[in-house]
Amino acid sequence: MKKLLVANWKMQKTFNESIDFAHNHASALKNIMQKSQHEIVICPTFPTLFTLANALKDTRIKVGAQTVSRHASGAYTGQVAAQTLAEAGCTFCIIGHSETRKYQHESNVDIEHKCKELLKNNITPIICIGESKEALEQGRTFEILHDQLSLILQAIAEFNHDVERFVIAYEPTWAIGTGSIPKTDDLTKIFAWLHEQCAQKTKTSFSLLYGGSVNQQNAADTLNITHVDGLLIGGASLHFDSFCAIIDAHIGWEE
Ligand code: PGA
Repeated sequence: MKKLLVANWKMQKTFNESIDFAHNHASALKNIMQKSQHEIVICPTFPTLFTLANALKDTRIKVGAQTVSRHASGAYTGQVAAQTLAEAGCTFCIIGHSETRKYQHESNVDIEHKCKELLKNNITPIICIGESKEALEQGRTFEILHDQLSLILQAIAEFNHDVERFVIAYEPTWAIGTGSIPKTDDLTKIFAWLHEQCAQKTKTSFSLLYGGSVNQQNAADTLNITHVDGLLIGGASLHFDSFCAIIDAHIGWEE
């Protein structure tokens, strides 16, 4: 089955490092994409998007942004509109990442607006949700996920244009960059619940990703969990070898 593997490069690579990654590994990336029917998306920093999209144009790898403005246009210094992202060759965009929620004070209402802007511009939103360690320990995971998801699902259900697809990435904040990932039983329950929520509340097709300390050791097992349609990968996507090992683990899993 086709899976969606999204590399979140955060602010970890410079422009030159990002483009070198594509150029240095162009033929290997092309081979990988020929072996695999899966979708791979790389999300670099804003100024890198256009050049990286061009550098990857012979592969089927797509590029995505890491955030977007909630506004269509106007006097919003420092922000980037969804239409600009689309014109730069971007077909996916992460919103609601725990780091933008924390450092850029992105609220659930901002995320709802951003989601609508992306949908209007035919960019597939990758909406991140996830509980903190504290919420986990208080047994509030489903309550937090419900709060983060409800406005988004309502906005998608009410959106009055055709929406091809949306993506939800479950990323518990305590799993990001820490090396710990949730137990398989917990992920099984969470993904069953997420699938039910998305299917009940919208008529749009969707993919569900797991993110947080994904690596080549845990990728195949995580992708085997029912309703996990792909992965959002941070640290392990920065190095060609570990990124490929995740894709290969996955190809192995598929065969
Ligand atoms: P990580 O990051 O894979 O390094 O934990 C994932 C993310 O923040 O999207």
